[in-house]
Amino acid sequence: MKPTAPANRRLSILFAVAMVVVLTICVTSNSSEGVNNQARKTAISYSAGQGTATGSSLRTELALTPPMGWNSWNAFKAKIDEQKIRQIADAMVDSGMKDAGYTYLVIDDGWMADSRDSNGNLVGDPNKFPSGMKAIGDYIHSKGLKFGIYEDRGHLTCQQLPGSFKHEQADMNTFASWGVDYIKLDSCFAENNGRLSTEDYTIYRNYITETGRPMVLSISDFGNGAWAWGGEDMAQLWRTSGDIYPWMDSVYYCADTSGGDQSIHPAFNGLWQFAGPGHWNDPDMLQVGNLKNDTENKAHFSLWCILAAPLMAGNDLTAMTEQVRQVLTSPEVIAVNQDVRGIQGYKVYDDGDREVYNKPLADGTTAVLLLNKGEKETDIEVSWDKIGLSGTQLVRDLWMRRSLGEFEDSFTAHNLGKHEHKMIKVGRPGSPLPTPVPMPLEKYTVTRQGETHLSDLYYIWKAGNAPAYNTTYGGDPIWIAGQTFNKGIGCKGKCAVMFKVDGHANRFRAIVAMDKSSKENAKGRFRVYNEDFFANKVLWDSREMTKDSPAKEIDIELKDVQCLMLVFDGKEVLGNWADARVISERD
Ligand code: GAL
Repeated sequence: MKPTAPANRRLSILFAVAMVVVLTICVTSNSSEGVNNQARKTAISYSAGQGTATGSSLRTELALTPPMGWNSWNAFKAKIDEQKIRQIADAMVDSGMKDAGYTYLVIDDGWMADSRDSNGNLVGDPNKFPSGMKAIGDYIHSKGLKFGIYEDRGHLTCQQLPGSFKHEQADMNTFASWGVDYIKLDSCFAENNGRLSTEDYTIYRNYITETGRPMVLSISDFGNGAWAWGGEDMAQLWRTSGDIYPWMDSVYYCADTSGGDQSIHPAFNGLWQFAGPGHWNDPDMLQVGNLKNDTENKAHFSLWCILAAPLMAGNDLTAMTEQVRQVLTSPEVIAVNQDVRGIQGYKVYDDGDREVYNKPLADGTTAVLLLNKGEKETDIEVSWDKIGLSGTQLVRDLWMRRSLGEFEDSFTAHNLGKHEHKMIKVGRPGSPLPTPVPMPLEKYTVTRQGETHLSDLYYIWKAGNAPAYNTTYGGDPIWIAGQTFNKGIGCKGKCAVMFKVDGHANRFRAIVAMDKSSKENAKGRFRVYNEDFFANKVLWDSREMTKDSPAKEIDIELKDVQCLMLVFDGKEVLGNWADARVISERD
């Protein structure tokens, strides 16, 4: 610990004068920006603003802080029944989970009978829920908890039980009549609906509103880009990842879909700018209690708390150890997650193994997570200039719930082993610290008339290999039939990438071909989609191409396309979208 300096001046004062300061945290250069870097380029501009993250256009009083509760899936899969759910409701209260803030008890897939009743209404499985779903809802409410339920927007759920497709209004009315407070709406089989995801979720949103009952809507689409196509207009939370599993690689992967560059261009530094009160990124439910040990459980919980992720416990609460109970109910760590300012924490350092996240809080302090994901024991430091502070600052350990004293310029967590971390709060109460400047619209949407090359826009969603910008995936110039292209998108293997065109583009043009580096028998396919995979609206399809196939020219009309998805599908081979651009004739 270093001696106290007399003046503790926040950098926010400086920001207020200078408006914008650029903090360069760690710089490497790489011309193909989509390719993952070990020590990655992270430049954060801070604004002088004191408000919350971007406002939601779905103005409700629901989920103003990330929803907290318990969901049956991670603990029991489809093996649920009314006795188990009642016991969980009892345990939520008796264990102190309810008092710690966990209010929603969500019954996931497997609750319903395998067919609807004679009126076409959903009914609970008579063997598992003989008293019916309203009765279990009443029991949940009698414990002072809220009732959540699972459905699917396809014709079947993921467990092949009746889905809500073509029963949307009736099902929302049924849920309201059962006293449901929270609906998790999954997406299995939704690709057969013939609708965009935005159309689907708007239908549900409107029917929910018509019931007059406030019900949180949780989009479960395995992270297919709801933040990109406007999930906040329809729902209070949306998945950013595929399913989470009870091991740390999966926990870290899911965290990185929200806090890192697994699902969005690295320049965004995660999805923080798409979250805020009433609209949250959801890296899936908790596996706390299902992981190997206390170190893993705590690292997982701290990550979800700093990411302002929904906290839906997924362990068997009736068999929870005291150690796990203490993790899930840790008050000062939960307070970071539930902070009313609603800023999603963002990375301020990441060298591949060591990560530092920062989450400015409503009271003027800031929460910092220093996490060792690597194999080797290590120290991790955060200097105050990376988190908008300077001078000497108070540091509090949020797990130990005690002050660690005052620190000048920086704090170092020493000897952190694999999966170990420190979760601290830095600073003194005062006016809220500034947040980084969100990515300006013109950097990721079509905002002007005429041509916009897609490689001049940061992609808003991706799955599979990250694309390279203006080169092949291997970093070479894009070359097709004797011509070199300065602009384009280079792909390898499976590579799906979404650009936000916001209905402003009238045409899409590109030339596609397998890269000349491909082996003789290499095969690949290029497809252009309107919106996500569930919308299943293919606008153009190259069919199978080989290295010898002549390049194909794309020139297609776009009508009201909000998000344009380019998909290359090959086996370890390279394919190029040369000169990929949209043309806008509108203002
Ligand atoms: C998956 C979903 C899981 C769980 C499961 C039920 O699609 O991601 O969270 O709900 O379906 O079948």
